[in-house]
Amino acid sequence: MRLRFPYFYQIMAGFLVVIMTLIIVTSTSFFYFGRNQLLNNLEASFFHYAELIQDAGKNPERLEVYNDILRNQQVEYGIFDAQGEMIYPSSQENIHVSIGEEELNRLAEGKSLLLRSQTVDLRGNDIETAIIYTPIINDYGIYEGFIGIGRPVSHLGGQMNELKQNITRAFIISTVSAIILSVLFSYFLVKRVNRLSKASRRVAEGDYDIYIDHSNRDEIDRLSSDFNKMVKALNEWRKEVVHLEERRKTFMQDVAHEMRTPLTTINGLLEGLEYGVFDKEQEMRSIKLMRKETTRLIRLVNENLDYENIQSNRIVLRKNEFPVIEAIEEVREQLTNIAEESNNEIVLDDDIEDIMIYADYDRFKQIIVNLLKNALQFTSEGVVHIGAEQNKEFTILTVSDNGLGMTDDEIENIWDRYYKADPSRKNTKYGESGLGLPIVKQIVELHDGTINVSSKIGEGTVFTIKFPRTRLQNR
Ligand SMILES: Nc1ncnc2c1ncn2[C@@H]1O[C@H](COP(=O)(O)OP(=O)(O)OP(=O)(O)O)[C@@H](O)[C@H]1O
Ligand SMILES: [Mg+2]
Repeated sequence: MRLRFPYFYQIMAGFLVVIMTLIIVTSTSFFYFGRNQLLNNLEASFFHYAELIQDAGKNPERLEVYNDILRNQQVEYGIFDAQGEMIYPSSQENIHVSIGEEELNRLAEGKSLLLRSQTVDLRGNDIETAIIYTPIINDYGIYEGFIGIGRPVSHLGGQMNELKQNITRAFIISTVSAIILSVLFSYFLVKRVNRLSKASRRVAEGDYDIYIDHSNRDEIDRLSSDFNKMVKALNEWRKEVVHLEERRKTFMQDVAHEMRTPLTTINGLLEGLEYGVFDKEQEMRSIKLMRKETTRLIRLVNENLDYENIQSNRIVLRKNEFPVIEAIEEVREQLTNIAEESNNEIVLDDDIEDIMIYADYDRFKQIIVNLLKNALQFTSEGVVHIGAEQNKEFTILTVSDNGLGMTDDEIENIWDRYYKADPSRKNTKYGESGLGLPIVKQIVELHDGTINVSSKIGEGTVFTIKFPRTRLQNR
């Protein structure tokens, strides 16, 4: 992208305008100051000459000497009488001073005329001249006339030119340094901005590992720090999006996979019914099977919804304190059939009656249902034992069985959705959607509790859950 007026030039132009204005103002003031100084010096020297000439009085030799000396410096002087007629240096023609009545009167009053510029010299020649006039008062205090001292302005020019040259030289040097300084300054400033812009481009291209080093000096540093924060937040957000997308994909795959089996079964049975290949008894059986499969599908959908709701914090726990035995007895009642079918015995700890727990009653029941059901499901002709204990801080429950058990690898995965340890166990009569334990874990964590498992293949499994007794502690 081409920039129409890059920042670099903007800053440079800004600096230059300010510095140049400063330089111009300073050099002009210097010029006028210098010129005034020059003129003041000239005026002072003219008055000094005038004093000397006055001291010389009417001594023509001395006047001649002064005349010679002053002429060398292009300075001319003339002595005039009270009427303004030149009396020295004398000449054939009468020369009248070229100033007005008013000025003559001022001289007559004893006042000098300060340095002025006039178009004619003392003799009335057309030469621009810088001149002073000073009155001559004799020893008796009587006004006798005046002295005029002048120098052609063209001779002043030399000094003026020198002054101009000096100032121009200073002007050029400061302008060049101003340009160099502005370029350097703008370069460093713009370099920092460019660094930010380059970093932003890299972020836009997907590089989030960028960090801009900065101190804490100015706004650009603050901008860099904010930029770093923004990139960090963006990166976290991006990871979250990727993670969510992955979750969504696996979820869709898993759901599709889980639904295919029951749907294929139902489809096959419907086809059989359509072509009337079943006898009455088979028909009844296939309808029962279809109902079982649809129930399984409904359960799958409900459990998925439940999982998602818990995951996205959309459920509210109604926690209170109650004896664990109440919930456990209800669950045991509910699962009697399953226990009987698998020939398992459910045994409770003797002192379980005294144990209290602080939890959401229904969610707690859900935990026990899942753990107990799993234990019964993966154990046959065994004992499933529920133990409980409590201390000041926690209530601890264990659900143990002496069934199939699991390998360490399996244990690691049981908290993942749809995970079933052994594919050959998939088609057991109970559950088998692989959602039970992930939901249990979420519920336990919502209660600020923990859940652990220890298991040995062929020996059995123990699940331990630990709930804080929050209310008792007034946490
Ligand atoms: N007590 C246990 N003994 C042996 N294996 C177990 C036990 N509990 C869980 N597992 C293993 O962990 C897997 C996951 O259990 P989970 O409860 O999450 O799913 P499921 O029981 O297969 O299906 P669902 O509970 O959703 O009906 C089970 O398939 C099983 O392989
Ligand atoms: Mg289960």
